Amino acid sequence: MKQMTSEKLRELYLKFFESKGHKIIPSASLIPENDPTVLFTTAGMHPLVPYLLGEKHPEGTRLTDVQKCVRTGDIDEVGDLSHCTFFEMLGNWSLGDYFKEEMIPWSYEFLTSEEYLGIPSDQLAVSVFEGDADAPRDEESAQLWIKCGIKPENVYYLPKKHNWWGPAGLTGPCGPDTEMFIIRKEKCSPECSPACDCGAFLEIWNDVFMAYNKVGEGQFEPLEQKNVDTGMGLERVLCIMNGKESVYDTDVFEDAIAVIEKLTGKGFKDDPETTRAFRIILDHVRTATFMIGDRKGITPSNVDQGYVLRRIIRRAVRYGRNIELPTGTLKDIAEAFINKYKDAYPELLDNADRIKEELLKEENKFQKTLQTGLKEFEKVAAKVTDGMIDGITVFHLYDTYGFPLEITEEMANEKGLKIDKEGYEKAFAEHQSKSKAGAEGKFAAGLADNQAETVKLHTATHLLQAALQKVLCDDNIQQRGSNITAERLRFDFSFPRPMTKDEVKEVEALVNEVIQQDLPVIMEEMPLSEANERGFFGIFDSKYGERVKTYSIGDFSREICGGPHAEHTGELGTFVIKKEQSSSSGVRRIKAVLVPNEK
Ligand code: ALA
Repeated sequence: MKQMTSEKLRELYLKFFESKGHKIIPSASLIPENDPTVLFTTAGMHPLVPYLLGEKHPEGTRLTDVQKCVRTGDIDEVGDLSHCTFFEMLGNWSLGDYFKEEMIPWSYEFLTSEEYLGIPSDQLAVSVFEGDADAPRDEESAQLWIKCGIKPENVYYLPKKHNWWGPAGLTGPCGPDTEMFIIRKEKCSPECSPACDCGAFLEIWNDVFMAYNKVGEGQFEPLEQKNVDTGMGLERVLCIMNGKESVYDTDVFEDAIAVIEKLTGKGFKDDPETTRAFRIILDHVRTATFMIGDRKGITPSNVDQGYVLRRIIRRAVRYGRNIELPTGTLKDIAEAFINKYKDAYPELLDNADRIKEELLKEENKFQKTLQTGLKEFEKVAAKVTDGMIDGITVFHLYDTYGFPLEITEEMANEKGLKIDKEGYEKAFAEHQSKSKAGAEGKFAAGLADNQAETVKLHTATHLLQAALQKVLCDDNIQQRGSNITAERLRFDFSFPRPMTKDEVKEVEALVNEVIQQDLPVIMEEMPLSEANERGFFGIFDSKYGERVKTYSIGDFSREICGGPHAEHTGELGTFVIKKEQSSSSGVRRIKAVLVPNEK
């Protein structure tokens, strides 16, 4: 097969879909907008949910991108051949535009054409939906594949478990999909299919035909607008194309591997344990680099995204010890990733100093207590008689030595022990009012929430940001994260000190003043350059985005934003700030609600 680099693969994919009338859009942030049910962007379609549900996208109905994604659900598997917590997803979308008849021939062309991937047709297999009570057998896709040149014996019909994608959360757009596989070796038995995990078939691409909206358990309604959503994992395709054994053997990791080898004097492939430690460090440092370097920059903390970041950095430090990685060098590994990815993700270069600083800070914090903590752990583990480390001890390891629960659990498992999680939670709740509850159980992806209350809070967030800039006399106040549920908004922004009580009151009053003026919220689409010239505020990756949506509220607020928003500020009710607190160093957090006006 054709050898290719990550740079080439990204370029080929975007170029192909551009030639089919698609607009190239930039990767969205790793932190989902207005989606409280999930901590990270987990698929290319995730930031596009409002548009898949019918909202108009400023770039039109054919889009393509390379989206950065984080999935930490399988973090314990990292270290094997294929698992990564960060990955890039190549994707293209039809928002109510083309459907199967165009998409399947395009997929075939991209996969087999010499100009693109050049995979021999007889090495490809596909699966299609076999049909059930919710949707019919996808004979149409099967026939389209055969017409393209896929051998009929290489078309497999599979049930929902394998050939249905979505919704990303509990409800939302979803539909049957058709998946594409490389035939790697002989089938293990006559019944073997892409559903078998013998390794005969390796998945490379997924085309979802989003024709349904799941509205409840087992309830599927036809979508008004039929969409196509596709996803191709960049690392995986690179691995297969270049005939590598593992995704860690592809060019994205090459430079970082050389840095670790130099720092430790060890070889990546010296022995299986060394290889595993290398892979864990590579994966975790890369993920941390993208998290800190995101335009909504995450910093290590004890809650939500910050907690996940803290956990992966500390895990990298712990595995660093196994290969004698010198202290304070995660930043040097990060540097290799920044250089490797800087053209595709310019935000990494913009935030390079911050990435290195945060890594060093967190590493130092953990290193200080790591050695004594590990000793303490050994002592504790040696004393265990019933196979279980009690909750108070686990909490002590967290509180005093900075061992995230999951790291203690992993170390316990290595010794064949369990930990008392319930006891830990109890001890935690007793000792701290702040809980990291948000960091767990939120990994099932969720949909952007278009409820009226959420939409109003979204508009209130724009007013809040503008009011903060005015009251704190700082036009550079940057959003560092926003999370909206139907009940409240949470807004993180860069600011070096706590706000005074008066400042909080003033911001609240100013927002309410604008609400009372009942100003219209005006949406306009325009080229990004015009939006910048006209003073629309927005942290926006400008690499590919050409046309953007903007929202203005009188002269008060101007932001580049995907929406949706309330139509008039008068709808919002009364704005009340509930809390102003620290989120992490240099970042403040405001929680606020809207109280409906008496009728
Ligand atoms: N949304 C589909 C996936 O993630 C394309 O596989």
